[in-house]
Amino acid sequence: MTLRRRMHRFQYQGRELFCEQVPVSRIAHKIGTPFYLYSMGTFLDHFEKLKKAFAPANPLICFSMKANSSLTILKALAAKGAGLDIVSGGELFRAQRVGADPQKIVYASVGKTETEIEEAIRSRILMFNVESIPELEAINAAACRLKTIQKVAIRLNPDVTPTTHDYITTGAKQNKFGLDARTATQLFMESYRYPFLRFAGVHIHIGSQITNAKPFIAAIKRALTFIDNVRFGGNPVEFLNIGGGLGIIYSKEKPQTAKDFADKILPLFKDYDLKKSLKLVLEPGRFIAGNSGMLVTKVLGVKHSDAKSFVIVDAGMNDLIRPAFYGAYHDILSVRKKNKKSSGLRADVVGPICESSDFLGKDRLLAAVETGDLLAVMSCGAYGFVMSSNYNSRPRVPEIVVKGGRFFVAKKRETRMDLIRGEKIVAEVL
Ligand code: LLP
Repeated sequence: MTLRRRMHRFQYQGRELFCEQVPVSRIAHKIGTPFYLYSMGTFLDHFEKLKKAFAPANPLICFSMKANSSLTILKALAAKGAGLDIVSGGELFRAQRVGADPQKIVYASVGKTETEIEEAIRSRILMFNVESIPELEAINAAACRLKTIQKVAIRLNPDVTPTTHDYITTGAKQNKFGLDARTATQLFMESYRYPFLRFAGVHIHIGSQITNAKPFIAAIKRALTFIDNVRFGGNPVEFLNIGGGLGIIYSKEKPQTAKDFADKILPLFKDYDLKKSLKLVLEPGRFIAGNSGMLVTKVLGVKHSDAKSFVIVDAGMNDLIRPAFYGAYHDILSVRKKNKKSSGLRADVVGPICESSDFLGKDRLLAAVETGDLLAVMSCGAYGFVMSSNYNSRPRVPEIVVKGGRFFVAKKRETRMDLIRGEKIVAEVL
């Protein structure tokens, strides 16, 4: 069965799919469909696995909250000691709402506004990951205005191309991210030009959904050579942030476990004192969140054309855009398995939206589906709800969290009124 190697707490008991100890169908009947469903236990398991694997280095693990920014999830991870990797003023706001320790917050993103920079400095975040010279100048100016010294890490573009989707490759020199080694070295050498900054770290992030350690190893080696060089030039570098990017199982991938990954990465640091002189930072998103959530949807009908069959469901690309956007694969399972004798159907699972790219799965072999059946779109805990939209004026769906035998509404379904909040009919132009 497809669930075999995936580490999560969505399992069948008999014919019923459960999230931890709660039957998914029970939640669907209470809440209605579609909805995102998270297993709190799975989120925490993944975080603990990474923490344990990297324990000898005692890194700061900053959950990349762009993957899933549910306040409940963030609060739970922060309570376990996680820091946060943020990329906007909005994410900073969420981090503050859950009382996250600002000294465990790192702030990346290619473009940060003056307001965002000031807010982050005021809230005393640990570090900015800096991607350009204008950004460095803006942070220096803001720190000057706020009469403080701000730590920064320079994002190095290590020019490594991992095997993943083009849209989520970030560490190759043609990508917009980071600074090339020559420019970055020069910045460290000229750090005196930025008197309100402390050049405390080096940051790399080469992409996402990377299933083997090789590109990470290559990028880290480059970062360490870079650090050796700038240290030689008299710049102490206290932090190396190796980013996120660890891949998970969506289909048949065979990604490394946290332990495999740590076993390959940690030896690279044998000549560095990770407890004292070089502190390691990690920014995992998908590894923690991806297999911790799913999207539950209901079949609205089945239709057959000469060429194909379609299972039409009530969730669409506005709810989960990954298949349309990246051609991403998500397993689709029956919430209640059918009698073995019932014949299967090969079909595209499509949403109600007026776009041909509105599909959740193509050419899937499903058990005989009927109107009203519930389907679970798996591995949607990362980049699922956060990338959802109101396209076709569809209210965004609720986020439900299960812990053990209970489920809770972490975010309500949007209402029709939510759809038009802040909007008015401008009489003057009529
Ligand atoms: N750090 C930085 C600087 C990042 O840009 C990202 C992700 C992460 C950490 C976390 O990466 P992760 O561990 O989750 O792979 N929407 C796409 C993924 C975009 C990733 C963007 N950056 C998707 O649905 O696959």
